[in-house]
This record gives sequence, structure tokens and C-alpha cells, in this order.
Amino acid sequence: MSLVKIVGIGHYCPENTVSNDQLSNLVDTSHEWIVKRTGICERKISKGESTVDLAVKASINAMKMAKCSPQDIDLIVVATTSPDRIMPSTACSVQSILGCDNAAAFDISAACSGFLYASIIANSLIKNGEGSKALVIGSEVLSRIIDWNDRNTCVLFGDGAGAAILEVSTDNSGIISTYFGSDGKTGTKALTANQFPIKTPFADASLKREEYLQMDGREVFKFAISIIPKVVKKLLEDSGEDISNIKYIIPHQANVRIIDDAAKKLNISKDKFYINLESYGNTSAASVPIAFSEAVNKGLLNKGDKIILVAFGGGLTWAGILLEW
Ligand code: ACO
Repeated sequence: MSLVKIVGIGHYCPENTVSNDQLSNLVDTSHEWIVKRTGICERKISKGESTVDLAVKASINAMKMAKCSPQDIDLIVVATTSPDRIMPSTACSVQSILGCDNAAAFDISAACSGFLYASIIANSLIKNGEGSKALVIGSEVLSRIIDWNDRNTCVLFGDGAGAAILEVSTDNSGIISTYFGSDGKTGTKALTANQFPIKTPFADASLKREEYLQMDGREVFKFAISIIPKVVKKLLEDSGEDISNIKYIIPHQANVRIIDDAAKKLNISKDKFYINLESYGNTSAASVPIAFSEAVNKGLLNKGDKIILVAFGGGLTWAGILLEW
């Protein structure tokens, strides 16, 4: 069976940039603390653009690169933790706006691992003959589920979207190995958001604190530094690849200290990781495809390069993909 390949990748983020200094006017924090503890300098925050709006713009960029039209898409899978509505799905709204009339469309929820979960699902469905071209999207307006009075979380997150087009490969390159999993047993309390949707991007005084996103940062940090090396090693083992043949690891962009630790544990240079969290913060399901798309736009990937995409998130969940570009 031929491999499935990512033939187009694109991203879109809101223009509005919010600096660490701006956040220090909202909560008791500082640019120095945020940079030292996370690596984040600024993030994009939507000024009214919805999760669907961001998803549509990222998808148009991905379709441009894949040179395909909306009518060619058989499958739309959207990963999001911050959908505009419970129903219809974000995927169906994207389908309607783009005119992907021939697609089956649905959303999945796996927090920051969502884009990779969605890609693994699309990979399997295409391999199974359930369509030949998939549009996979990670899109988030997290700013509306953030408690802008909570310095533990509000400095970490941002808004944005990334999208990819997957189809059967014609040249033997593509997705080589995948791995995903979750730990609901111990992980359900580490990261929660009990309420959505919230219309305004900044704190809505009528909501109780526990309805916004809440995180046990230390628990998630501990989980992240153990799961990234585990996922990378599993993908290498399953594909028979050596880490030295991997051009880039594109990780979930949560905290540069997590990436530092992963590089140490894997005994590789930090330069092997593509990092852009300083400009976007953690955009959850959008984080990996935004970074992937940015790396492609910068011309960092050549045909035949092997890369690893790896993510972890609420649930707790994790996922990874090893592919040949
Ligand atoms: N500014 C200043 N001080 C702060 C801030 C802030 N923004 N946030 C926390 N602090 C304080 C704390 O109150 C604490 O003070 P105390 O010692 O007086 O109690 C002190 O800084 C240290 O707090 P820690 O929580 O120990 O700080 P830590 O170094 O662990 O960094 C962080 C916190 C950045 C949240 C880290 O734990 C982390 O990155 N965790 C992982 C988060 C993550 O990856 N999330 C992704 C989730 S993916 C998804 O699905 C959404």
C-alpha cells in the first residue's frame, strides 16, 4: 500500500500581537519572568476572528500549496479545543465557506495533540479507501477560554490555525510511522476548561474562574518532558530510523524548557528542533501545523528530508508522526 503524504501545508494567525509587557498590565508578571520560564515573547490574539475564520484562511494557504480546489477534498477533520459552536462542527462550517461540497467533515478533541490525532485519523481513512484527499486543520481561539486574571495560564497561550492536505503518495515518500495515546486515568484533572463558547476574547466577569482553562503547570511539565522522548524513540524504533537521519523535530510549542529537556534526554542538539514559540506562545492544536508551515515557508525542508512531528496536551494526550517530506 502506498504511503499517504502531506502535499500542502499552510497557516494563518490573527495580526494583533500582544507582548509580555502588555500582559504585565493585566496580571502580576513581567517580560523577564515569562521569557525565562517559557521562552515566549509575544502571542497573536484574535480581535473578533473566529476559530472557523482562522481555519478557513489556513486551509486556503494549504490548498494553494497542494494546487487543489475545494471540490477535490473528500474529508475535512478539524482539531480544536475552542470551537465557535457545539454544533455544527467547525469542520462543517469550514466546508460550507470553502465549498468543499464532496467532503465528509467532523471535529475531534485531543487538545494540543489534536492536529496529529486528526492527521493520524486521515492517514488511516485514506489508506482504507475512505476518500483520497483530506484537509486536516488545527484551529484555536484560545483567548476566549483563558482566564485573563490568572498569571499561571494567561501568559502561555495564543490564537492561530494551521492546515494540511493529505493524499496518497505518488513517489514513496510520506507518513512512515505514527504513534498516539492518552492517559485519562491520571490526566483528566491536569488541564481543564469547563465552559465554551465564550464570545469575548478577554475576561467575561459573569463566568466563574473554574469555567476558564485551568492547568496544573508542574504536572503537565513533568508529563511533557517524559512523553516527548518516549514518542520520538517509539517512532524511530517503528520505522527503523536513526535520529541522525532526522532533519527536524517539530514539537508542540508550549515551553522552550520542555524542548531543552527533550533535546538533553534524546542526546541531540537543540538545533534539531524547530522552535517558534517566542512569537506565538502555545496555540494548542494549531501549534504543530503553524510551526511546520513556517519551516516550509522558510525553505528549511527539502524533498526527501525526514522529520518528526510530536505533541502532548490536555487529556492527557500525546501523538507523533515520522514522515519523509
Ligand atoms: N509571572 C510571574 N510569576 C509567575 C507566573 C507569571 N506569569 N506564573 C507563575 N508564577 C509564579 C508562581 O506563582 C510561583 O510562585 P510561588 O513560588 O510564590 O508559588 C512561581 O512563579 C513558580 O511557579 P511554577 O509553577 O513552579 O513555575 P514553573 O517554572 O513550573 O513554570 C509553567 C510554570 C510555565 C506553567 C510550567 O510549569 C509549564 O510550562 N508547564 C507546562 C505547561 C504546558 O506545557 N502546557 C501545555 C498544555 S498543552 C494543552 O493541551 C493546552
